[in-house]
Amino acid sequence: MSEIREQQRLTKDERDRRVLELCEQVSEIEQRLIPTGLHVFGRASADDERADLLRMVASFDRPETGARALPQLIEEGLAFNPTSHETSPTGDAARLSEKSLQAREQVEAITREAVGRFLRDGSEAASAWLETRARVPVFESLRVFALLEKIETQLRDNQELDAFARALRGEYIEPGPGADIVQNPAILPTGRNTHAVNPYAVPSDLAYARAERIVKLLLERHRAEHGRYPAAMALVLWGLDNIKTQGEGVAQALWLLGVRPVRDGMNRVNDVEAIPLEQLGRPRIDVVMTVSGIFRDLFGATMGLLDRAVQCVAALDEPPESNYVRRNIRARMESESCPFEEAALRVFSNAAGNYGTNVNFMVMDSQWEADDTLADLFVTRKCFAYGRDAEGRALEGREARAALNGALARVEATYQNIDSFEIGITDVDHYFEYLGGVSKAVEKQSAARPAIYLSDTLSREVKVRSVEETIRLETRTKTLNPKWYEGMLKHGFRGVAEIESHVANTFGWSATADAVDEWVYTEVAETFLLDKQMLERLGQLNPHSARSLAARLLEANGRGFWRPEADVIERVRESLVALEDRLEGVA
Ligand code: BEZ
Ligand code: MG
Repeated sequence: MSEIREQQRLTKDERDRRVLELCEQVSEIEQRLIPTGLHVFGRASADDERADLLRMVASFDRPETGARALPQLIEEGLAFNPTSHETSPTGDAARLSEKSLQAREQVEAITREAVGRFLRDGSEAASAWLETRARVPVFESLRVFALLEKIETQLRDNQELDAFARALRGEYIEPGPGADIVQNPAILPTGRNTHAVNPYAVPSDLAYARAERIVKLLLERHRAEHGRYPAAMALVLWGLDNIKTQGEGVAQALWLLGVRPVRDGMNRVNDVEAIPLEQLGRPRIDVVMTVSGIFRDLFGATMGLLDRAVQCVAALDEPPESNYVRRNIRARMESESCPFEEAALRVFSNAAGNYGTNVNFMVMDSQWEADDTLADLFVTRKCFAYGRDAEGRALEGREARAALNGALARVEATYQNIDSFEIGITDVDHYFEYLGGVSKAVEKQSAARPAIYLSDTLSREVKVRSVEETIRLETRTKTLNPKWYEGMLKHGFRGVAEIESHVANTFGWSATADAVDEWVYTEVAETFLLDKQMLERLGQLNPHSARSLAARLLEANGRGFWRPEADVIERVRESLVALEDRLEGVA
């Protein structure tokens, strides 16, 4: 009722703005690249998947081959204003005019058509069409298509099984970089030995440049929503992500602190220097870095660099309102009479040789009663400090529970960079164990739930989203999207397990961050359990996972994450009983 009344009060401008916002959201869902099935080892991707991948590859500048982003070339050819693509940090569509939305749709459509023509008729025909249709210079589009041609050939040529057999025979497997195709097409052909990264090259210049923009959006969004910059932020840093992006997460931490990397004579990043406040134009934000065991193992030098960055900022003689790191360290030294070295610890990971937070296991096994249990588990696993002590000795993972708790107590926002098109926060349990886990720990230590943000630096439009928005988007594009789940169901047993796993991971976000709208569970129930035909399909393909899905929904209800009408719960319970009967051979 109240919503209807509110809508009647909207002025025409407000209504137009809301419609534009909705339009923006629908187009975001439509444009998102989603995996429509699992990778089958040794099998090349299908034609339509290849077309989608090539379109994404063509949407980015490729300085290494001189190919420019195709949508950008089309915008220039049609004389559209490219800045119209930027949304404001709050996702507010006020700045998005109807015209710019239409322009974007047109650019997307032309890009799609051009890639389709390239696949059907070849480079020259596609280039000629692009010149006529959007005045894209032929030499520019030919560069793009030359790259696509190479990738297309490599995608068809799948050497995975062959390389696997060679590895089993103890033969040499050529090395190649690890990333996703869109980020770095040089990973093709697949079926090679993945080589990692030189930690002294991190962050790359490109990663540092990209991080400036994302940090700006992140802080602007926080300010728009909370009226000020966060006093401190907790960041999750992962190893594989920083390999793929050459250190974007690391660079984001440096930008928040307001420092830049310094390279030595051998071009190795081995120090930082402060960016002057006048240049930075905002306060230095305090950051607590909770780092995965994989990151710790791969990026030893970088762990030291991050610690040095904090020490560098803490030592600056700047006013407290401009240097939150110094302000927070001082406050803690005074309130808890703890020494500087303790109050300045900011880089935390597992104890040497340990990995993970175990929060995912506790949630999946339903082994917790109070929220504090999850918060404490996170801290127990991650309270090992890295960096150097006052005498310059490496800490090597010294247990520092009070230091981590003290640092988390001042955190107001938590954040993680998403680096992959394929893996989102409901695809695996690691996002909620880390970002959800640290958020729960902050909630306990600071007595307030932090704002939780994720960024998506892969699409052309860099986006900062709240965890709630990210879950809505992934639910729409994956879990509840027939294209996605039908793609999964083609894999039979494993496909049902994937669907169940998405629901369980979504549940993990309720458990750690109270971040899931109730409609998500209602629609999951309606789509997979309350639809008789679907229930029968799932039951036949994989009754074990289908049963777990039903049990998870009932648990969501039992824990108060989902409170639908009683008859819905009754019907979910009936589906659970039917699946159990099937498993026991009764039905
Ligand atoms: C990592 O790359 O650091 C990572 C990967 C998977 C789970 C957790 C961390
Ligand atoms: Mg709730």
